[in-house]
Amino acid sequence: MGHEVKAAQVNRDDLRAEIKAKYTEVALEPERGFHFHTGRPLATMLGYPVATVDWLPPSTVASFAGTGNPFSMGELRPGETVLDLGCGAGFDTLQAARQVAPKGRVIAIDMTEAMLAKTWAAAQQLQLPNVETRLGYAEQLPVDDASVDVVISNGVINLTPDKAAVMKEVWRVLKPGGRFQIADIAVMKEVPQSAKDDINLWSSCIAGALLHDEWRWLMDELGFRDVRWGVWRSTSSPAPFTSRMPQSSIRVGPPSAASSVNAGQAARRHRSPRSSLRAARVTWRAMNCTVAQWRK
Ligand SMILES: C[S@@+](CC[C@H](N)C(=O)[O-])C[C@H]1O[C@@H](n2cnc3c(N)ncnc32)[C@H](O)[C@@H]1O
Repeated sequence: MGHEVKAAQVNRDDLRAEIKAKYTEVALEPERGFHFHTGRPLATMLGYPVATVDWLPPSTVASFAGTGNPFSMGELRPGETVLDLGCGAGFDTLQAARQVAPKGRVIAIDMTEAMLAKTWAAAQQLQLPNVETRLGYAEQLPVDDASVDVVISNGVINLTPDKAAVMKEVWRVLKPGGRFQIADIAVMKEVPQSAKDDINLWSSCIAGALLHDEWRWLMDELGFRDVRWGVWRSTSSPAPFTSRMPQSSIRVGPPSAASSVNAGQAARRHRSPRSSLRAARVTWRAMNCTVAQWRK
């Protein structure tokens, strides 16, 4: 069943340029502050163990921009081949490399050069020879068919306008029985078309967020099975358009109509949030970061 997902009507090249520009800033100037959470505070909020964060190079941690913790669905097994789709600065890539070592390996893919360069540099610093970086797009993965045991992804799929194309690629590269273990955004109320068509709301992980029914539809269409939903984290800000969200506002629990929104976060992730959100008439009630796992 579920809710059909169609490709969004945004200009793909413009969207890619916008997202690359934004995440190049996150890679090169993480300290400058964004309209979304980054770095160690985000990692803490999302439940990554302190010891793990401490093990990572500070510059990797600083550019972390995920939306959940894919390892909360289970650690990876030694010997597995992993693809980190939209690896960013390598926050999850490096953890995955440690989990699957010594025989397993991680292919880290991202379309933003500055992010990929950080992943590579950090892998060298930590002496992880089992990390390989590849510049590429989620919609056209530079990876062989049926060659990967686990695809992990954190905060990336919502940034892609043609999600069915991405899922088909994930399906193609996974071995039979392989896992797709992701953290991403799921909304409780459909994102209005006016917001979906607003390119400025995309780079902030807002406009491309899916309903749970849409995630279900996508995965059912392709034949993914054995879905397991993980812990839901909802971030809230009582004062949507003001200062940064207080960390104490993180809430963990099952999704419900009362789950908070992240109007503030939505707004802060965008250059001129007020106007776009108002124009879109969006109340970002019930927006969650979620994790899930499917099997091929
Ligand atoms: C929100 S950041 C998350 C990065 C990383 N997963 C993390 O947790 O820190 C999204 C990343 O996805 C990459 N990205 C977005 N759309 C992409 C696409 N279509 N193909 C490849 N990478 C993409 C961006 O360049 C960016 O590095």
